[in-house]
Amino acid sequence: MDRQAPIGIFDSGLGGLTVTRAIHDLLPHEQLVYLGDTARVPYGTRSPQTIIRYARSCARHLQRRGIKLLVVACNTVSAVALDMLRVELDIPVLGVIEPGARAAVSASQRGRIGVIATAGTVLSGAYPRAVAGCDSRSEVFAVPAPLLVPLAEEGWVDGQVPELVIDRYLTALAEQHVDAIVLGCTHYPLFRPLIDGRARVLCGGATKVVDSAEASAHELRDLLQDRGLAASESPGMRGELAMFVTDMPGRFGEVASRFLGRPVEGLRVEQIDL
Ligand code: DGL
Repeated sequence: MDRQAPIGIFDSGLGGLTVTRAIHDLLPHEQLVYLGDTARVPYGTRSPQTIIRYARSCARHLQRRGIKLLVVACNTVSAVALDMLRVELDIPVLGVIEPGARAAVSASQRGRIGVIATAGTVLSGAYPRAVAGCDSRSEVFAVPAPLLVPLAEEGWVDGQVPELVIDRYLTALAEQHVDAIVLGCTHYPLFRPLIDGRARVLCGGATKVVDSAEASAHELRDLLQDRGLAASESPGMRGELAMFVTDMPGRFGEVASRFLGRPVEGLRVEQIDL
């Protein structure tokens, strides 16, 4: 496998750019190819069978582009379709749930871990399973927080409306006395300042908020090193980000800069059919 080949990243839409951002910040010399399935977003409200079908078509498309490793930058796909992708693809596949679960276990003092995620991720039980895999004493309380996805897409990430919505979801976790909260959906890091503040008020000052995007970028770095797949670094060389979407490339710039945390001028976005 060519170490200089790109890393493929996909999500149901543009939320996976929060993971892409964390990867690019940590591994700026890696070439990245991002696919957002904007024609079929959201996945979080769909059946496991449909999510598996969509995930397979995204992964195959990226594999045809010669990627060396696949990052599933979507919690819902990681929850439902990761095993299938690992069996079917002949390259390493990294999801975002296991890194998030491990980070939550190390952040939590009392082993009471809250998760906010899409309905699909909560129903799959993937977070409790992943946490049990690294610490049998920790308990997971998962709450679906579906309204945060359209609010993030609209850029409505602060002010009264998201605060009321966040309070509603966090209150359910506060009742369980959690001391760590996992942002179990790619869209939620956009609300990070608000969630940090409201978690301190509702769940206690020591509550830790865990972003699975950052945890996943660190595990990706380790995985690339372990498998001898890390791109060689040369001074002044920066990896490029190629972007593909399945619908509405015109709307991309406006929303993507919010998720990537920087202006996207100069970024090429191509519409493709899966
Ligand atoms: N990307 C999805 C996730 O992380 C959120 C959006 C959706 O429902 O497709 O779960």
